[in-house]
Amino acid sequence: MPEAEPPTHVFPVLPHESSPASPSLDEVFEHSRTPDSVPGGTGGRGRPIIELADVRKVYSAGSLSVEALRGVTLSIDEGEFVAIIGPSGSGKSTLMHILGCLDTPSSGSFHLSGEDVSHMSETELAHIRNQRIGFVFQGFHLLSTMSAWRNVELPLAYAAVPRAERRERAIAALRRVGLGERVEHRPGELSGGQQQRVAVARALVTDPDVVLADEPTGNLDTTSTEEILGLFSDLHRAGRTVVLITHEPEVAAVASRIIRVRDGQVTEAPPRELSRA
Ligand SMILES: Nc1ncnc2c1ncn2[C@@H]1O[C@H](COP(=O)(O)OP(=O)(O)O)[C@@H](O)[C@H]1O
Ligand SMILES: [Mg+2]
Repeated sequence: MPEAEPPTHVFPVLPHESSPASPSLDEVFEHSRTPDSVPGGTGGRGRPIIELADVRKVYSAGSLSVEALRGVTLSIDEGEFVAIIGPSGSGKSTLMHILGCLDTPSSGSFHLSGEDVSHMSETELAHIRNQRIGFVFQGFHLLSTMSAWRNVELPLAYAAVPRAERRERAIAALRRVGLGERVEHRPGELSGGQQQRVAVARALVTDPDVVLADEPTGNLDTTSTEEILGLFSDLHRAGRTVVLITHEPEVAAVASRIIRVRDGQVTEAPPRELSRA
């Protein structure tokens, strides 16, 4: 089974311009969420940001149906850095699509920041994705004809943030991932590791509740893998909630909590206190 392609509607076509309220640069980059406020914890604040209860997902094609998730229950707190690990075909990407509001469960419930998103319409889900989730994919998914900063500003354009502010925030996000000198470069003029850093900047620029990464180092060499994982660790230290999906134990090891998935079920999701490496 090849890796599932992310649906194109993660980064849909541009909307018209308008002038909404949007977070200031300070709110985006001097992240207000306090890390490690739980003594001895793993950086979570004890407030669940992701709550799945008995989530099932069935894919049907004609008379064939595959139950990709078979009753997943798990909770992730604000500020946690969690790795979801499992072999190929275990349901990781399916889980990511649900966590990222790219798809809805066949049954069971999913609450994001306390809000039930299991039964929302596609329009409502698109709004949630844009406002609350930052995505990083294995294949970067950058637009090849656009410069780094143009790629990074895209989610802000969907959110109808004014043009000048978009550029300023995109460039600040690129500086944050160490690409302040590369803002005008196109993806083809950047290394794989740099392209993935652009994708991380794009994931951050909207100040999402959760950064979701599906095999983000799958196409990278060892050095770039370390850079990208270092970036996720930085985000975690800054109080950001990060969910990293991988089949590689060395990659999962950077997270402070590991959730194991096999055959569509969570086989091991120890409480935060017990799961520290
Ligand atoms: N769109 C789909 N239609 C039918 N079956 C699918 C689809 N996506 C995934 N599956 C099946 O669901 C199971 C889990 O797949 P996936 O979530 O991609 O696993 P992983 O990301 O862990 O490799 C596999 O058996 C896969 O073949
Ligand atoms: Mg996958």
